[in-house]
Amino acid sequence: MKRFLDLGLQPLANSYIKKNNIKLKEKKFRLSVGFDKKKYLVSILKTVSKEMMFNKNYPYKSSESKTMQNSFKNLAIKIKKKYKPNLIVEIGSNDGAFIYNFKRKNVIGVEPCKNLAKKTIKKHYKTYPEYWDTNLSKKISKIGKADVIYSANTLSHIENLDEVFKAINILLSKNGILIIEDPSLLQCIKNNAYDQFYCEHIYLFSSISLKKIISKYNFEIFDIENLETHGGSNRYFIKRKNCKNLKIKNSVKKEIKKEIQYGLKNFSTYKKFSNRVILSKKKLQKIFNKLKIKKKKIIGYGATAKSCTILNYCKIDNKFIDYFYDTTSYKINKYLPGSKILIKKYKKLNINNVDFVYLGAWNFKKEIFNKEKNFIKKGGKFITHIPTPRII
Ligand code: TMP
Repeated sequence: MKRFLDLGLQPLANSYIKKNNIKLKEKKFRLSVGFDKKKYLVSILKTVSKEMMFNKNYPYKSSESKTMQNSFKNLAIKIKKKYKPNLIVEIGSNDGAFIYNFKRKNVIGVEPCKNLAKKTIKKHYKTYPEYWDTNLSKKISKIGKADVIYSANTLSHIENLDEVFKAINILLSKNGILIIEDPSLLQCIKNNAYDQFYCEHIYLFSSISLKKIISKYNFEIFDIENLETHGGSNRYFIKRKNCKNLKIKNSVKKEIKKEIQYGLKNFSTYKKFSNRVILSKKKLQKIFNKLKIKKKKIIGYGATAKSCTILNYCKIDNKFIDYFYDTTSYKINKYLPGSKILIKKYKKLNINNVDFVYLGAWNFKKEIFNKEKNFIKKGGKFITHIPTPRII
């Protein structure tokens, strides 16, 4: 593993601070990113224990995002129509946004964050409040093999990929389908979206890396969908190599070709990306400094885990951003880790109170701009770092 990017000392991205704890010292870790030339795999170099990140205080709820809900609903319709599964297992079922699209008898959730698992258990959806591993998959196998295993934005959070795929191998039926969805490395590099890197995102998959990783367990990708969620994700449809009734679609070749042509097999591509990140930091700092000299009022929009990386790496704190607006109930009246910027309950933007708005949730730009049409019409401006820092 060769390091190409150093994002400095960072707090845990989802450890929002309560007012009473604001003076306490935060735990920090060095966030650097490397490339494994053998597996073409990009990952962070120092990991934090899963218990520190995924516990009963986990703040992210997929049900609070309309975009995610719609994406899950459409996929569920497709799965039911195409694969007619008797049993679907979701690894990382969060607060149920995906599993609620199925009948209770057909679906099982796995969710180690107990605050989230509690929600689906309460609605009588079978949920294991445990970490995904071979012990758990053996236990579930006793109920029945899964015809579909689905996992969105979860497998890239688990350090031991060998254990992950061994466990999947145990539970998946002979002709079963594995569907994995995670942010796309290609989109991340193209967009200079270095905020995809934070403690929870241990890996950033590409199709070339995933192809290599899963081959060891006799799995192969047979279809890839490009999604807009989380700033550009890929949905990988995977089967056992000996399952002949599913043809490998053109989309796989196409995606692999795109990635190779962009240079995702070469270390130099990552080094260039790293240089662009350093430049991006300087540009963003310049924008904030200029606006502050002019005494402009700046707030943030969407106190995302991603924004934690940006704010701490670029040293943008509460001297620059007065507060963030966010819709997630858990985050409200808490402070962003590291930068210690207050998070307030979302209110429609008003040009009389705010001059500039930093887009923390840039991955929801379309949805947000639509919601804030009036603010924009009256001359309200946003600051974004994607793909390069600028005012829009
Ligand atoms: P995510 O990028 O990890 O999905 O998180 C999105 C965050 O942005 C989440 O905390 C909710 C917040 N958000 C808003 O506050 N307002 C919005 O209009 C949208 C789309 C998201």
